[in-house]
Amino acid sequence: MNLIVVEDHAAVSQTAAEVVAASITENADLTVVAATGTTPMDLYGELANRRRRGELVTSGWRVFQLDEYVGIPADDRRSLYQWMKCAVLDPLAIPADRTVRLRGDAADLVAACDDYDLAIESSRGLDLAILGLGPNGHLGFNEPPSDPTSPTRVVTLSAESIRSNAAYWGDEEDVPRCALTAGMTVLLSARHIVLVVSGGHKRGILERVLRGPVTPEVPASHLQSCGGCTVIADRLAAGHASA
Ligand code: PGA
Repeated sequence: MNLIVVEDHAAVSQTAAEVVAASITENADLTVVAATGTTPMDLYGELANRRRRGELVTSGWRVFQLDEYVGIPADDRRSLYQWMKCAVLDPLAIPADRTVRLRGDAADLVAACDDYDLAIESSRGLDLAILGLGPNGHLGFNEPPSDPTSPTRVVTLSAESIRSNAAYWGDEEDVPRCALTAGMTVLLSARHIVLVVSGGHKRGILERVLRGPVTPEVPASHLQSCGGCTVIADRLAAGHASA
């Protein structure tokens, strides 16, 4: 795991865009998992700017959804697919046939997870995972405890995730209680992982991710042994931590 500490959130997004661009030069046909959440939004904006300027080619990208609430159709305002479409797919011109959804509205959720893992497997795994850090150390909705072998599956959201997700939709009552998440196995085996972290409210959990024991109680702590992982954090989140 490499750690890059930068001044502020804007610098996190700029630096993360540079790291993403550098990983793309190795491979124009890229399989990417792209998180929703607040933190990576400006990174996607930066990638879209680069694409508009002709500095980034996304025509070979295949984008996988990281997580989705159970029982929420694509036209619901809380659909994480819709969020990803607006923030990632449309700005980066990724068409539907190069997108793999995690279908939280499927009748058979286990089959939906199996289909997703199969799609990743048949794409030779993930090249790039763009992730944010949950307040409880989750990656996607791999809630504590999640060990590195956790598959893509249905999960019950923790109280902390319900609280933090309420900020997206208005109220805790608006947050669905269950979700599908890409498993730890597929995320940790991504060839490049970019974890973006900003703000003082992430300082305690980031310290545990970077320097605490590697434990299922802090799922993101498993990134410590991932050579292809770059954590990009601002000073508020990282304190005085350095690589
Ligand atoms: P955030 O969410 O980027 O909105 O802080 C991260 C997460 O919960 O995974």
